[in-house]
Amino acid sequence: MAIWNLGSINLDLVYSLSRFPTPGETLAAGEFERFLGGKGANMSVAAARAGATVHHIGAAGHDGAEIVQKLSDFGVDVTEVVPVEQPTGHAVIYVVDNKDSDEAGENQIVLFPGANRALTFEQVENALSGAQAGDVFVTQNETNMQVEACQIAAQKGLRVCYAAAPFDAASVASVLPYLDFLILNQIEADQLFDETGQRPEELGIKDVIVTLGGDGARHIDGTSGEITTSRAFDVEVVDTTGAGDTFTGYVLAALEAGQTMRTAMETASRAAAVMVTRRGTADVIPTMAEVTSADLA
Ligand code: RIB
Repeated sequence: MAIWNLGSINLDLVYSLSRFPTPGETLAAGEFERFLGGKGANMSVAAARAGATVHHIGAAGHDGAEIVQKLSDFGVDVTEVVPVEQPTGHAVIYVVDNKDSDEAGENQIVLFPGANRALTFEQVENALSGAQAGDVFVTQNETNMQVEACQIAAQKGLRVCYAAAPFDAASVASVLPYLDFLILNQIEADQLFDETGQRPEELGIKDVIVTLGGDGARHIDGTSGEITTSRAFDVEVVDTTGAGDTFTGYVLAALEAGQTMRTAMETASRAAAVMVTRRGTADVIPTMAEVTSADLA
């Protein structure tokens, strides 16, 4: 069994600030670091670090060789990452590193999609030709070809999962007919309700996870209606960037490995808790060994 991830690959340019800038203001950053990122790449790395076999489907420009190599070094199969003319996607990320601020660990992100939106139908179809019924397909809202890929994956009998970030109700609505699994946060669930008039449990999807930040996560079994909750862990938050992606990658890998939904969510919550104690994105996603040995309260 394997995970096939149609996902973004970004170069993350991360600036640490004492607070977020106001319009028109010039503010000096305390630190600057570069990371492999993109919600897609982060999920692939998280799932690989959790022990899954992960095939990433994506695109990068001529300037992207180094970060694609990094993705590969983190244990992700990049055979289906194609070179394109467009520049590699990148993200400018501000993180507040002021412990006294209410915004400590929070981020603001500006995305340049670039190559992430240059995929073709033929590429996606060809990439998924190696997938088997029973494999997992996951995508997010940072590439093109989401609907087409979900349709192909569903036709092939894959378990189709959508991580609804960055959130756009119309994008969720367009993939809904193909989904077996939806992961979104509470604010996004509320936005989806405003748009569709449906609560997560009314969407007709087999599995829905609503992440609740500091309150953990809730799984809704769309068939039985059964609700499973997992708690959050109390840690000192350094940087929340990529924590949701880490949760998703870990939960999918744990389910692939045969864990129950309750255990998978517990493992994923632990991974996300470790992740928020670290500054950065894919490069600092914890390994399974780090997750299991972490001293979490
Ligand atoms: O979720 C965090 C990610 O969002 C970053 O890695 C950035 O690239 C954006 O895609």
